[in-house]
Amino acid sequence: MKLYIVKDYDEMSEKVADVIASQIILKPDTVLGLATGTTPIGAYDKLIEYNSQGKVDFSEVKTVNLDEYWGIAPDHEQSYRYFMDKHLFKRVNIPYSSTNLPNGMAPGKEEECVRYDTVISDVGGIDLQLLGLGHNGHIGFNEPDGIFYKDTHIVDLTQSTIEANSRLFASMDEVPRQAITMGVGPVMSAKLVVLAVSGEGKAKALRDSLSGPVTPKVPGSILQLKDELIVVADREAAALL
Ligand code: F6R
Repeated sequence: MKLYIVKDYDEMSEKVADVIASQIILKPDTVLGLATGTTPIGAYDKLIEYNSQGKVDFSEVKTVNLDEYWGIAPDHEQSYRYFMDKHLFKRVNIPYSSTNLPNGMAPGKEEECVRYDTVISDVGGIDLQLLGLGHNGHIGFNEPDGIFYKDTHIVDLTQSTIEANSRLFASMDEVPRQAITMGVGPVMSAKLVVLAVSGEGKAKALRDSLSGPVTPKVPGSILQLKDELIVVADREAAALL
């Protein structure tokens, strides 16, 4: 593991973008595993800048996102598909057909989980997986639980995640109660994992993930089994390390 402690969100974003950009320069047909949420927006902005300056070419890149709300259509403003289109895909030269997310409106839950695992294996697995960290230590939507789930699965979101995500919805009632998420299998099989963490609210989750016991009660703790891990944390998030 390499740990970079940086000053603030902007420095974290630049560092993360530089790692992703370097990966794409070295391997233009990189498969990126991507996350949504507040954490990666700054890094995506930087990548858009690098792309417009001709420094990074997304034309051969493929992407698989971690997760999607269940029961929300791709064109819903709070869907993760909408988020990715808005914050990255429609602003770089990536072919739209090379971008993949689970479909939260698929007719069958089990079938959609199997389909998404097939998508991940069909692209050849993930070269670089970008992760944010939930306040409760979740990665993707792998919430604290009794076991680690290896494959794509449906999750009931915890109350704390529903509350954290409600800031983006008109009311708490509108926040979906379920999501579909990649399991820890493809994340841990990625050639490189980049964990980005910002803000004091994440300090305990980061400490528990990196130095507590490896337990599904803190999903991020499984990253302790990953040598090829880069953690980029700002000072506030790293305060308890
Ligand atoms: C989103 C995802 C989540 C977020 C986490 C942190 O695709 O996988 O695990 O990374 O909830 O969210 P933010 O960045 O909004 O604090």
